[in-house]
Amino acid sequence: MDLKQSVIAITGAGQGLGQMMAVTLAHAGAELALLDVNQQALDETKQQCLMLGTKTLTYQVDVTNEADVEQTFSDIVTDFGRLNGLVNNAGILRDGLLVKVKDGQVSKLSLEQFNSVIQVNLNGTFLCGREAAVKMIETDSKGVIINISSVARAGNIGQSNYAASKAAVATLATTWAKELARYGIRVAAIAPGVIKTPMAAQMKPEAIERLESMIPVGRMGDTSEIAQTVKFIFENDYITGRVLEIDGGIRM
Ligand SMILES: NC(=O)c1ccc[n+]([C@@H]2O[C@H](COP(=O)([O-])OP(=O)(O)OC[C@H]3O[C@@H](n4cnc5c(N)ncnc54)[C@H](O)[C@@H]3O)[C@@H](O)[C@H]2O)c1
Repeated sequence: MDLKQSVIAITGAGQGLGQMMAVTLAHAGAELALLDVNQQALDETKQQCLMLGTKTLTYQVDVTNEADVEQTFSDIVTDFGRLNGLVNNAGILRDGLLVKVKDGQVSKLSLEQFNSVIQVNLNGTFLCGREAAVKMIETDSKGVIINISSVARAGNIGQSNYAASKAAVATLATTWAKELARYGIRVAAIAPGVIKTPMAAQMKPEAIERLESMIPVGRMGDTSEIAQTVKFIFENDYITGRVLEIDGGIRM
């Protein structure tokens, strides 16, 4: 894929990994549709992309809302005329142990807490991936979809909801790669390790310390190291149906 000729949508583009992906793809000459619930954050990312001289539009949308996601992808095609790429990056953490025993009292992970993460990370990826595929087919855009998974997909303490959602989006990528190849659409996933972003900052310091001690390269990853991988997948037409593990060698 030639990024200079491409329109790329990024969810969760307001900060962290999504913001760095936007800046990196703007640098490569792609036109950008930036999606997030947070309009103020979107405006910040948009400013950075506009400074690089690329067409950039923002769409305030909750990726869990089916009607709004459908409308947003229709708007993107109206605004740009086509859609060549999607990064399914929006995601949240709501960590908690399945069951916790404190002072003899047993508490449990609520269904609401479990579902909140599944809604954004899995259902949001499903909805945006589905709508992007529809628009790519309708506009004959020959696109690429990238789902952002996580090293936690292998299973991680306190992350029943998050780990399950991240295993699922990796599986969606391999499934969609098989289903959508006939339309010229490639689909892949990236499973980042621990990356320095506002999301990682929500983790308890002792959890970060424990994780860093488990990383063979000895440090957390930089957002640019994931954004580079997004660019690489877009540009390499022989990648599909695979999950790229960009994690400094960590194994959960
Ligand atoms: N940071 C890490 O260490 C790490 C590691 C592995 C995977 N990931 C994944 O990478 C992605 C980005 O992570 P990050 O660290 O940049 O997170 P972040 O919290 O810094 O940014 C996430 C963005 O998603 C947006 N968002 C949240 N819910 C949304 C919704 N319902 N609809 C639309 N937008 C929504 C937020 O407003 C925010 O701008 C996530 O999917 C995350 O699970 C992160």
